[in-house]
Amino acid sequence: MSTANTPYSSLIVTEKGQPFTLSDAERHEIEHAIHHYEDPRAASIDALKIVQKYRRWVPDGAIYLIAELLQMSAADVEGVATFYNRIYRQPVGRHVIAVCDSIGCFLTGFDELYAALQETLGIRPGQTTPDDRFTLLPVCCLGACDQGPVLMVNNATHFNVSPANLTQLLELYP
Ligand code: FES
Repeated sequence: MSTANTPYSSLIVTEKGQPFTLSDAERHEIEHAIHHYEDPRAASIDALKIVQKYRRWVPDGAIYLIAELLQMSAADVEGVATFYNRIYRQPVGRHVIAVCDSIGCFLTGFDELYAALQETLGIRPGQTTPDDRFTLLPVCCLGACDQGPVLMVNNATHFNVSPANLTQLLELYP
């Protein structure tokens, strides 16, 4: 069977063999975002953020359906998703801890902080705690190099984080 002209949406199935679909809310918000741009492709980052808002991450199926809605190739949508390091292409926990590992924070205690995080959470970088509470990721400079070590939890930036104040900080994120 030729699939050359077959829409992505009829080809994508989930692990359980069900067709992958965007929710009505996701589709509605993406269509709304498209109207803000002359070229629908310009809404690609908005569309990825919308899917991530509802699912915490962006599954493969969503890449194809976003591509279809925005009239672009799935490879191009994937390229946008890969470019933005806050778009997650694998499941993450309820809270994502992004720790700056660039030179400024490296000089102000990154190593000790990163080790303490791994020990406290019981996970390695890139992993999620078994209770689905935290995912730990390294990131490049967060733009507050004079206040390191710096990390973000979800969208909140925390400055001068140390092993000593780590427990208190994590308690803010149940
Ligand atoms: S080096 Fe860490 S915020 Fe810039």
